[in-house]
Amino acid sequence: MDAQRLKNNFALVGANGIDVAEYFYADLFEKNPRLRPLFTGAMAKQHEKLLTALSHIVASVDDEGELVPYLRDLGRRHNGFGVVADYYPHVGASLLATLAYFSGPEWNDDLEQDWTAAYGVVAQVMQEAAAEPVA
Ligand code: HEM
Repeated sequence: MDAQRLKNNFALVGANGIDVAEYFYADLFEKNPRLRPLFTGAMAKQHEKLLTALSHIVASVDDEGELVPYLRDLGRRHNGFGVVADYYPHVGASLLATLAYFSGPEWNDDLEQDWTAAYGVVAQVMQEAAAEPVA
């Protein structure tokens, strides 16, 4: 994974602001209507939270000491939201679709591989933490 290439791409995509989160959730719920009821809070707030989390993850993608504790904490919190491991690939697919859409002609196989690898690590760390018994 090329961390700098991923950061550059997120800078490009993120310049579209809240539209990115709106596109992501529209795609996720269109393809997986059964996930919609899990989101009980205000979606406008959720859009902001997702973008903040993604920015933080991308900024620390090459800093394991910062990234791993953050993801473990996020993963544990997702237990309380009714999220199970099976849902992660759907979220990953909608994230990739969103990134590809906003990247436009910049999107290519290298970016697809970078993001697939990065999301794989994020999902794995979150799920591992979520699966551990609460101390
Ligand atoms: C890259 C992976 C993910 C990231 C960065 C992420 C980010 C977030 C953030 C920042 C929140 C706000 C609450 C908090 O910070 O504790 C949240 C809530 C939530 N996430 Fe995720 N999430 C991810 C994966 C997933 C997956 C796979 C699902 C499955 C459908 C999911 C469903 C939810 C739900 C249901 C909530 C609660 C929404 C509400 O309060 O209405 N997330 N997520």
